[in-house]
Amino acid sequence: MGFVIAIDGPAASGKGTLARRIAGLYGFHHLDTGLTYRAVARALLENGVALDDEAAAADMARGLDLSGLDRAVLSAHGIGEAASKIAVMPPVRRALVEAQRRFAAREPGAVLDGRDIGTVVCPDADVKLYVTASPEVRARRRHAEMQAAGSTAGYDDVLADLRRRDARDMNRDDSPLRPADDAHLLDTSEMDIEAAFRTARALIEAAR
Ligand code: C5P
Repeated sequence: MGFVIAIDGPAASGKGTLARRIAGLYGFHHLDTGLTYRAVARALLENGVALDDEAAAADMARGLDLSGLDRAVLSAHGIGEAASKIAVMPPVRRALVEAQRRFAAREPGAVLDGRDIGTVVCPDADVKLYVTASPEVRARRRHAEMQAAGSTAGYDDVLADLRRRDARDMNRDDSPLRPADDAHLLDTSEMDIEAAFRTARALIEAAR
């Protein structure tokens, strides 16, 4: 087992960018666990399988190959929405968590980001960060990203989507989004990525 860094938080909190930079700094493996839920959702959508077909979703989850996750394809907005629907299914979570734990054990270390890394996937992680920001700040960031990518979606719709996804992620019975008791809270509402990175780095250095 290498050094494990768990990073959780809601959509567009900045946790993904932070996770990639930290992994790059230490030469650790990085897994965006949201992509694993997205890949299962995409497979169902592509095969015309209903998003409430739990048995089919669990089969897809058990057959998932973590090495083939394509961020460019999986980042589509509709896939995120579908992912949060299949993410409420316990057999889907069990299969994906098992694969995520195997990934976390890789040497010399691993950074995993998601919703339940510090609470469920890696409860013994060496460092746990919970990255958050107000819904309005997250919606502004997501909206700017989407505009840069050519989307014409309005800010109000982006904010409403984020709130809906937060509610689904925080209120589900299995592994709801919440900070682990021993997580360091990092509110990036008034912090840019550089400041967040410096803070995270200091916390990790203290634990190493
Ligand atoms: O982080 P991202 O937006 O890619 O995640 C898509 C969805 O996958 C989330 O809204 C959440 O429902 C689910 N997810 C999860 N547990 C994780 C990572 C993502 O339930 N560890």
